[in-house]
Amino acid sequence: MELYEAMRLRRSIRDFSDEAIPEETLTKIVASAYTAPANDHFRDWHYIVITDRELMKAAVNGVPKDLTEKSVDEMTFISDPVQKESYRVAVPKQYRMLTDAAAVIIPLMKKKTDILNPGSLSDLNCYASVWCSIENVWLAATSEGYGCNLRIPLNDEEKIARDVLGFPEEYMIPCFIGIGRPAKDAVKTVQLEVDLDKMIHWQKF
Ligand SMILES: Cc1cc2nc3c(=O)[nH]c(=O)nc-3n(C[C@H](O)[C@H](O)[C@H](O)COP(=O)(O)O)c2cc1C
Repeated sequence: MELYEAMRLRRSIRDFSDEAIPEETLTKIVASAYTAPANDHFRDWHYIVITDRELMKAAVNGVPKDLTEKSVDEMTFISDPVQKESYRVAVPKQYRMLTDAAAVIIPLMKKKTDILNPGSLSDLNCYASVWCSIENVWLAATSEGYGCNLRIPLNDEEKIARDVLGFPEEYMIPCFIGIGRPAKDAVKTVQLEVDLDKMIHWQKF
């Protein structure tokens, strides 16, 4: 698939068919991470690819399973109606969108700085770089006809995954990625319209 087409088609997919993904395709998709730009030239990210369903469930067992649309109504930080509607779609699916996927992909980033207490913007470079690699994976998956979703681990979700998967303390999980063939009736959330003429500035703001 052509790059601009993949960018246009890339969406968060939280509903999957039960089709498996061939290992060589998964390998190709995850390998695309390593063509991403990296601040320090190391690209020393690890990626764990889990296709064993019981292991997938165990690794993401910390993700809340009981969130409902009502939980979204209680989130006072959401005021925009379009955003609220997309949260209503996404929030109740946080656990299912990972455990119903064909695979859970877990990027691992080496903690080289205290990214939760950065002293300067460059302390966040390692985090920014791993996200470049995640976008590559997402676009590669789209170009292969698959869909992805992302979940940022909260509370003890990372610790639970670490205990199950056995990765070292010096690595952190920027997100969980669910990947699979989109279900025929997969719900895509409505997004806020962006007026490019207002957002892209020529010469001066
Ligand atoms: C940094 C980041 C964090 C995100 N965290 C979550 C998340 O925890 N759960 C979720 O369902 N989607 C998450 N998303 C996906 C967004 O909700 C989604 O990309 C956005 O609504 C735009 O929709 P689209 O991906 O279909 O274009 C995240 C996306 C980004 C870039």
